Amino acid sequence: MTRAEEIARNLAEVRARIAAAARAAGRSPDAVRLLAVSKKMPADDVRAAIAAGQRAFGENYAQELRDKAALLAADPTPPEWHFIGPLQTNKVKYVAGKVALMHAVDSPALLDAIEARGAPQPCLVQVNVAGEASKRGVAPVDLPALLDRFAAAAHVRCEGLMLIPPRGDARAHFAALRALRDREAAVARPNVDLRELSMGMTEDLEVAIAEGATIVRVGTAIFGARPAPPQ
Ligand SMILES: Cc1ncc(COP(=O)(O)O)c(C=O)c1O
Repeated sequence: MTRAEEIARNLAEVRARIAAAARAAGRSPDAVRLLAVSKKMPADDVRAAIAAGQRAFGENYAQELRDKAALLAADPTPPEWHFIGPLQTNKVKYVAGKVALMHAVDSPALLDAIEARGAPQPCLVQVNVAGEASKRGVAPVDLPALLDRFAAAAHVRCEGLMLIPPRGDARAHFAALRALRDREAAVARPNVDLRELSMGMTEDLEVAIAEGATIVRVGTAIFGARPAPPQ
């Protein structure tokens, strides 16, 4: 089997998992979008996934996104890029205004830096539901103030919430994110329409879909294990 065939087969399996999970939850499979996480994977892997019908790709590192996007920009069907990693404000220039969705806005400073680029930018807010010190994301208590800041912005929009749950304990966190979304969606704010829940990865996409995910971010099940970082 070639690498392209392997990626096509993996994608078909992931799509089947998504469809089965959606049906089991009484939801339409079309209500869940698949984001293929291509971080650390070469541009040719992205091309193979596009040839197999995948459109949206997630990257975690600003310069990697910039370089890969440049390689693929002239292709007949360029990817729809999403940025899913943490972002330092000095790297916002590589990302803001260039991606379909920024998944991990987690501070007023980052929001302001994106807004300052002056280009329209749909965003999600990453929430640290568990309050883990090691994880990024706004604390639930700080979410309303961050959404208020979107409401006062001219260029950024907030389209939903994003979560990376702690290992082994995902369901309660997915449910908590959904409850936060439902609570904040009841507050009318300009530039804020909390329709997306970006949650669920290779290990737990079924649970996330059962709890209302509208975007699942899947890397390993499509592209295999990522290369280890250099020591
Ligand atoms: C924010 C985020 N979402 C999703 C993924 C994909 O995870 P997996 O390879 O387990 O599907 C990653 C991978 O690093 C990630 O950083």
